[in-house]
Amino acid sequence: MSWIPAFTDKIEHPIPINNLLKSKQATPSHPPRPITISIVGAGQRGSGYAYYTILEPQWAKVVAVAEPVDIRRNRMVKLYNIPEENVFKDWKEMIDRPKLSDAVVIATLDDLHVEPAVAFANKKYNILLEKPMAITVEGCKKITKAVTENKIIFAVGHVLRYTPHNILIKSIIDSGFIGNIVNIQHMEPVGFWHFAHSYVRGNWRKEEESCFSLMTKCCHDIDLMSYWNNSPCKISSFGNLVYFNSKNKPKDAGDATNCLECKIEPTCPYSAKKIYIDNGYKKGVISWPVSVVTDITDIENLTNAIKNGPYGRCVYECDNDVADNQIVNLEFANGSTANITMIAYTETVCKRKTKIFGTLGEIEGDGINTVMYYNFLTRKKELLKPSEILGVKGLGGHAGGDLALMRAFIYSIGESLFDLRDINSLHVKTDSHLFVFAAEHSRKTGKTINIEDFKKMWEIS
Ligand SMILES: NC(=O)c1ccc[n+]([C@@H]2O[C@H](COP(=O)([O-])OP(=O)(O)OC[C@H]3O[C@@H](n4cnc5c(N)ncnc54)[C@H](O)[C@@H]3O)[C@@H](O)[C@H]2O)c1
Repeated sequence: MSWIPAFTDKIEHPIPINNLLKSKQATPSHPPRPITISIVGAGQRGSGYAYYTILEPQWAKVVAVAEPVDIRRNRMVKLYNIPEENVFKDWKEMIDRPKLSDAVVIATLDDLHVEPAVAFANKKYNILLEKPMAITVEGCKKITKAVTENKIIFAVGHVLRYTPHNILIKSIIDSGFIGNIVNIQHMEPVGFWHFAHSYVRGNWRKEEESCFSLMTKCCHDIDLMSYWNNSPCKISSFGNLVYFNSKNKPKDAGDATNCLECKIEPTCPYSAKKIYIDNGYKKGVISWPVSVVTDITDIENLTNAIKNGPYGRCVYECDNDVADNQIVNLEFANGSTANITMIAYTETVCKRKTKIFGTLGEIEGDGINTVMYYNFLTRKKELLKPSEILGVKGLGGHAGGDLALMRAFIYSIGESLFDLRDINSLHVKTDSHLFVFAAEHSRKTGKTINIEDFKKMWEIS
C-alpha cells in the first residue's frame, strides 16, 4: 500500500515524542473522477467498506453489487443508486460481464475468497479482499500468483495496520525512541459474548466450514508482529477448545437446546436472549451483532430468529470446534521474542492490549485510545492519544482501521490509476498468513516450527 497516514519527521532520541508526532503525510489530491468500486458480498463487512464512499464521495463511488440475499442487495442498490444492469445475485454473474469498475471489494465468507479473488485479478480489477486471504496455504499461493501476474493493486483486510493506535506505535518504534525491540506481549480479548456469537453459534465456529480461530480472529494480530518488529523465524503454539462443549452443559439445563426454552436461561451469561435482546435490541443496538441474527431488526423478527435460527442455540450444544484460547510464541532472527494470546473469556471485546519492551524504552497500548511511552534515560512517561495526534475524528469500526484501510486502498489506486502499479506489500500479506498456518501446525503437532523449513514444505521461496 503506497499511502498510509504516517509521521515522516526523523528526529533523534530523546527529543520529546510529541514533536515527532506533529508531522503527517499530506493527503493526496483526489483523482479527476471517483474511483469506481464493485461490492461482492453486501453483508456486514461489504456494507461497511461501501460506506466509505459516502464519507469521501470525491474519491470513490459504488457502481455494482453482487449479493444473493435480496434485502442486503436491494439496500445497497438503493443507498448507492446502482444501475439495474450492474446488480447481480452472484459474483459469477458479475465476472461474466466486461470489467465494471476500477476496483472490487470481496467480502464474502472465508471459504469464498480464492475463486473470486483469482477471477477478478485475472480481469485486472484492483482488489480489497477481506481477511483471511484464504483458508489454506494453497489458496494464498493461488491468489498471490494471480495478483502478481496481473500487476493489480491488492489489499487484504488487515485493518489493524491502519488504526491510529497501531500507526502511532509503529511511528514510535521507527523513530528509535525505544531502541531495539526485545519483546512484545500482545493480547486479543475476544469477549465472552462475542466469542459465543461468532465462534460458538456463528460463521466462524467450525474449522471445516471457515478456518481455525487463530486465522479467523488473529491473523491480523500476528501480522502486526511483522509490522512492528520483523518476520518471525520460529513459532510455537498451544491452545484448545476448553469450555463450549456438551461436557460443560449445566445439568439443570436438561434437554434444552435453545435459550428461549431453557429454564436456566436467567442465570446463563451466554444466553442468546441476554446477548441480543436484553443487552442488545432493548439497549438500542440494531447494528452488529443484532443485524447478524436478523436482517430486519425489530423485536418480532429478532425473537423469531433466536427461536428458530443458529443464534439461539445453547452454547453447549453447538457443532463448534475452534479453540477458545490459544497462545503463540515467536522468535525473530535478531533473538527478540513475542507472545500473542487469544482468549474468549474477557469483559472487553477486541480491545487489544500491547506491551513492547525495547532497549531504551517501553510502550504500552490499550488497543484504541491511548499509548503510553516510557523513556529509560529521562525516566519520564508520556500518555499519548493516537486519534488526537493523527487528527482523526470519530474512529468507527476496528478503532478506525476499517475506514483507514479503505482510504489507503482507494488513495493507492487514485495515485496510480492510469499507469503505476503497486504490489510491493503482497509478500508481507502472504507471509503473515503463513506465520498463522505455521502456528496452527505447531498447535496440532506439538512441534516448534522453523519458518524457512515451513516455506520449503509449501514450496514458497
Ligand atoms: N477485517 C476484519 O477485521 C474482519 C472482521 C470481521 C469479518 N471479516 C471477514 O470478512 C468476511 C465477510 O464477513 P461478514 O461478517 O461480512 O459476513 P456476512 O455473512 O455478513 O457477509 C458475507 C456476504 O457474502 C454474501 N455471499 C455469499 N455468496 C455469495 C456469492 N456467490 N456472491 C456474492 N456474495 C455472496 C452473503 O450472502 C453475505 O451477505 C469474512 O471473510 C470474515 O472473516 C474481517
